[in-house]
Amino acid sequence: MAEKHVSLTEDEQHKVSKLPVMDGTLGPSVVDIRSLYAQTGYFTYDPGFTSTASCSSKITFIDGDNGVLLYRGYPIEQLAEKCDFLEVCYLLLNGELPNGAEMKEFVTTISKHVMVHEQLTRFYSGFRRDAHPMAVLVGVVGALSAFYHDGTDVTCREDRYTAAIRLIAKMPNIVAMCHKYSTGMPFIYPKRKLGYAENFMRMMMGDPCDEYIPNPILIRAIDRILILHADHEQNASTSTVRLAGSSGANPYACVAAGIACLWGAAHGGANEAVLNMLEEIGDASNIPEYVAKAKDKNDPFRLMGFGHRVYKNYDPRAKLMRQTCHEVLDELNLHNDRTFKLAMELERIALEDPYFVERKLYPNVDFYSGIVLRALGIPTEMFTAIFALARSVGWIAQWDEMISDPELKIGRPRQLYRGVPQRDVQPISSR
Ligand code: CMC
Repeated sequence: MAEKHVSLTEDEQHKVSKLPVMDGTLGPSVVDIRSLYAQTGYFTYDPGFTSTASCSSKITFIDGDNGVLLYRGYPIEQLAEKCDFLEVCYLLLNGELPNGAEMKEFVTTISKHVMVHEQLTRFYSGFRRDAHPMAVLVGVVGALSAFYHDGTDVTCREDRYTAAIRLIAKMPNIVAMCHKYSTGMPFIYPKRKLGYAENFMRMMMGDPCDEYIPNPILIRAIDRILILHADHEQNASTSTVRLAGSSGANPYACVAAGIACLWGAAHGGANEAVLNMLEEIGDASNIPEYVAKAKDKNDPFRLMGFGHRVYKNYDPRAKLMRQTCHEVLDELNLHNDRTFKLAMELERIALEDPYFVERKLYPNVDFYSGIVLRALGIPTEMFTAIFALARSVGWIAQWDEMISDPELKIGRPRQLYRGVPQRDVQPISSR
């Protein structure tokens, strides 16, 4: 195949710079600008990296215009219907779905690592009981680096794989302890024989004085939330993990940086914001007032859980989460609950109102996942921590891919300096 190039012309000297074009297997091709500065003396300017591919990756593909999300080539719809979360973890880490024997071995390996060092549990008591779970999570996951540092050689493939297994295995325990600590309840140890989502729900929602009786529909709902949030290519938190890891830093410290980034309302905090918004609206009779506020350009209010930066037609995860949402509401007989009725009415109005229809502002995955998590009795402030639990596998798979990439370079963006030009320091008496 002939090599493709684009030419850029510089006005003053009419100097032409030829830049190679790189093709992926799917999605737009990219212009390789690595030689641009050497050829022209220019950098590029792209705040928010909206036009820049920061890496090449084989893990996740998104086509926002057509509502496509693929993990390792498999459509999210098929993975959500046919696989459980641990199969998806195996896929993201290894590139292929496991066969029966591989899956059995993977589950056994994960189950060996579900406990945390008892010393790690002491970190929780250093936090106030009313600390936000995401603040606690940043601290405790960061602290894992102190337990697994000398034994983690990031240049060694086996060590990286062990780090990934440890993270996936321990995260349910660590997230559940954030909730237990905030309520003053004792921590509940994991049970090796339980499935991943069931173990997590038991540790988080169980009562040590009672036997935990799982409801398969609700466990499946949690498992689906985990699958749908497992990876989303180079989003802000994943890019944070990659940037932190590009220096060769400890992987758990890098994941803690990703958790910090995820916390923001413009990223993982949206599902919490949906429930807070529903609380604020309070009653269906107030919906027209809030819809009018959302449409008013002079009012900063936006309908939380509507619209998406990448999916401009529909979010394929939202379709699946909507289905799960109705299964859960049916199972728990919650269709008449005030908040859920409010959410469904808001959905109906937004799907019919020309403002939302014309701008293609559909309910996104967080609109429905927030409703599901509330129905399961999970407190609102834990929602983003559950997102972090799900995304951990994506973060660590992307980190592993980056470290094994022969083109790995420490991340070092450039800037357009607009400060004061060079000047001399005057003696303090004459300033
Ligand atoms: N409510 C009301 N109007 C909206 C909303 C909304 N939620 N979202 C976008 N708009 C309007 C916006 O005002 C603009 O109108 P106009 O063309 O008249 O100026 C138009 O729709 C296009 O909006 P945009 O700001 O260009 O869209 P964006 O791609 O920059 O923003 C977004 C995407 C997700 C930040 C935004 O839709 C939003 O703030 N949504 C609410 C927050 C939310 O639910 N976020 C979770 C996203 S999913 C989580 C994840 O995948 O990590």
